[in-house]
Amino acid sequence: MSSDSANAEGSLDALLSEERRFAPSAAFRARAVLSDAGVYALATADREAYWAGWASELHWFSRWREVLKWKPPFAQWFAGGKLNVSYNCLDRHVQEGHANRVALFWEGEPGDTRTYTYGELLAEVCRFANGLKGLGVKKGDRVTIYLPMIPEVVVAMLACTRIGAIHSVVFGGFSPESLSDRNNDAAAKVLVTADGGWRRGTVVPLKANADEALAKSPTIEHVVVVSRGGSLSEQVGVSLRPGRDHWYHDLIATASDVCPAESMDAEDTLFILYTSGTTGKPKGVMHTTGGYLTQVYATTKSVFDLHDDDVYWCTADVGWITGHSYVVYGPLSNRAQVVIYEGGPDWPDRGRLWQICERYGVTVFYTAPTAIRSFMRWGEEWPEKSDLSKLRLLGTVGEPINPEAWIWYHETIGARRCPIVDTWWQTETGGIMITPLPGITETKPGTATLPFPGIDIAILNEKGEPTSAGYLAITSPWPSMLRGVWGDEERYRKTYWSQWKDVYFAGDGAKRDEDGYYWILGRVDDVLNVAGHRIGTMEVESALVDHPAVAESAVVGKKHDIKGEALAAFVTLKEKHAGSDALMKELREHVGKKIGAIAKPDLIVFTADLPKTRSGKIMRRLLRDIAEGRAVGDTTTLADPAVVRKLQTQYQED
Ligand code: PRX
Repeated sequence: MSSDSANAEGSLDALLSEERRFAPSAAFRARAVLSDAGVYALATADREAYWAGWASELHWFSRWREVLKWKPPFAQWFAGGKLNVSYNCLDRHVQEGHANRVALFWEGEPGDTRTYTYGELLAEVCRFANGLKGLGVKKGDRVTIYLPMIPEVVVAMLACTRIGAIHSVVFGGFSPESLSDRNNDAAAKVLVTADGGWRRGTVVPLKANADEALAKSPTIEHVVVVSRGGSLSEQVGVSLRPGRDHWYHDLIATASDVCPAESMDAEDTLFILYTSGTTGKPKGVMHTTGGYLTQVYATTKSVFDLHDDDVYWCTADVGWITGHSYVVYGPLSNRAQVVIYEGGPDWPDRGRLWQICERYGVTVFYTAPTAIRSFMRWGEEWPEKSDLSKLRLLGTVGEPINPEAWIWYHETIGARRCPIVDTWWQTETGGIMITPLPGITETKPGTATLPFPGIDIAILNEKGEPTSAGYLAITSPWPSMLRGVWGDEERYRKTYWSQWKDVYFAGDGAKRDEDGYYWILGRVDDVLNVAGHRIGTMEVESALVDHPAVAESAVVGKKHDIKGEALAAFVTLKEKHAGSDALMKELREHVGKKIGAIAKPDLIVFTADLPKTRSGKIMRRLLRDIAEGRAVGDTTTLADPAVVRKLQTQYQED
C-alpha cells in the first residue's frame, strides 16, 4: 500500500477512537423507506432475488430471462430484459397521472429560473430526441455532451437514452484538448454544447472551447448549440458553421413532441464516462442499461429515503458520475422533485446554496466534504441567514469526511435533526456501494459504515486473504458495475481484475472496526482526489512534460485543508531553462490548457534531479514527505540520497 494510506492510518487511529454515535430518531425511523435491519439478511440470503425485486419496480417492455450471468470479469444483469431509461424517468410517471408534478427546479447563477414538470420534460426530451434523429443519430452512436448545469443537459442525456444513443458527458471545466481526446476516443458523431455558462460571474465560453476541440475531432458530423439565454447570449457571439452547427432552439422548433422510446436490451451501453486512472490517458468507463438503472433507482430511494413530498438537491455537476446517477437517473426514475443550480456556491455571496435550499424547500441535500469544509471556513453566519428547517436528510460523497466537518454539517446545517449518509462509491461502481441506511444505521462521523444490502465488500491483503486493514475489494458482481473500458478490454482486465482472481480491486485502502464499519483511507494507486475529483498523477505529468521547458516531472498529492488533497509538482527543466515565478505561472496555465483548471498544481518545485531508485523509478513517497514538510522516510533504495537533501533545503527556502 502506498504511504498515502499509511499517513492516513495515523489519523485513523484517532478516528477509530471516535465515540460519538448517531442513531436515527424514532420519528425518522417511523417514516423511513427502509427501517427494518432484516433487509441485510434478506439480501444476503438470495442476492439475485433481492436485486430482481428492485428491478421489478421499474418498467420493462419485456422481462429478463436470467438475473445474473457471471463469466468473470464480465457480468450480465437481467439478460434478455428490454427497457428504456427515459421511459422509466418520464413516460411512466406521466402515465401514472404525474404530468404536472415538478421534475426540475432550475436556477441559473444570475438568478434566472425555470421549472419543468414531468409532462414538459417528456415533451422536450421527445423533441430533442427527434432532432437528434434528424441529424442521423442512431442506436449505438456516441453523442458528446459539453454543457453547463442547465435543464438542456438533462434533456440531452435523456434524449440520447430515448433513442439508444450512448452519451459521453464531458465536464464543462475541461479544456478543448480534453474534449477532443474524448470525442476521438469514443468516435462521437454529434456534440451538444452551449454558447456559454455562468461560473462566479464570468462566462465559460463553451462554444469557443468546442470550436478549438472540433478542429481536432474528425468524427463529429454535427454540433448542436444551446443558447444559454439572457445577457450571456447577448454578450457571447458564437459562429455557427453552416451545415455542421445548429441552434438547439431551431432544431426542436419543428420537431414533434412524440418520440417512441427505443426498446433497449438490459445490457446495451447507456453511457461512457471518462475518468482518470494510473496512466496518462483517461479511460471511458462503460455502463449499461438495466442493472445500472436498477441500482441507482434502489439506492436513491433507500439511501436518500425519498418520499413524494421531498425536494431533492445533489450539488454535483452532471460531468461527474454523481451527477449522472444522483442528479439525473436515480432521482428522475424515482419521480423526485430535483433542484439544479448552474453556478458557484459563493456567488453573489456565500449564502447562495442556503438561499436556494430555503427558496425551494429542499429536504434532502447531497454534497461533497470539500464543499462542507469551505462552508465551515466561511462561517455559520451564512447558513443562519436562511430557513433550513425543511432539511431532513444530508449526504456526502467523493472523499473521506473528517469528523470535524461531519459534526459541523450535522449541527450547523442539519440542526442535529438530520441523519447524515456518507456514501462510498466510484465512477466504476455506478451507484452507491457502502452507506448508512438512514432509518436503520447508527452512524459514526468519518465512516461510510456498511455495504448496501446485496453488495459484497471485503478488505483483502495483497494475496487476497481477508484482513481488517488493507485493500478494499468487491467480491461479487453488482448490478451497476462497469462493463468495460471503451475500446480497451485489456485495460479493464488489468486495472480492476488482475489483483486477485474474480474479485474487483477498487484502488482504495480501508479498515474495518469492531462494529464491522468500513473506514475508507483513500487511494492506493497513482490517482489523487482533489476536491472530490479524481486526477491521475500521470496525466498531469504528461501535461507538464509537454511544455518545451520541461524535461521531467513528478506529481504527488499534498494535504489541503479544503480540497483534501492538492497537487504538488516537482519539475526538472531542460538545459538553458531556469526556474522562475513567470515559468511557474506558465506551467500552471499550460496544465490548465491541456486538461482543465482542476488539474493545475498548487505547488511547483523546480529541481535539478528527482529522487529515484536504482532501477530509475521516481520515489513519490519521498516527494510527498517533502511536499508536506515531514521528515523523510527510508532513503536506502535511492540512487543518490543527496538529491533528497538538496530538495528538502530548497523546498524549505521556497
Ligand atoms: O477514493 C474513493 C473516493 O473517491 C473515489 C472515486 O472517485 P470517482 O470515481 O471520481 O467518484 C466520486 C463519486 C462517487 C473512490 O475510489 N470516495 C468516494 N466516496 C467516498 C470516497 N472516499 C471516502 N469516503 C467516501 N464516501
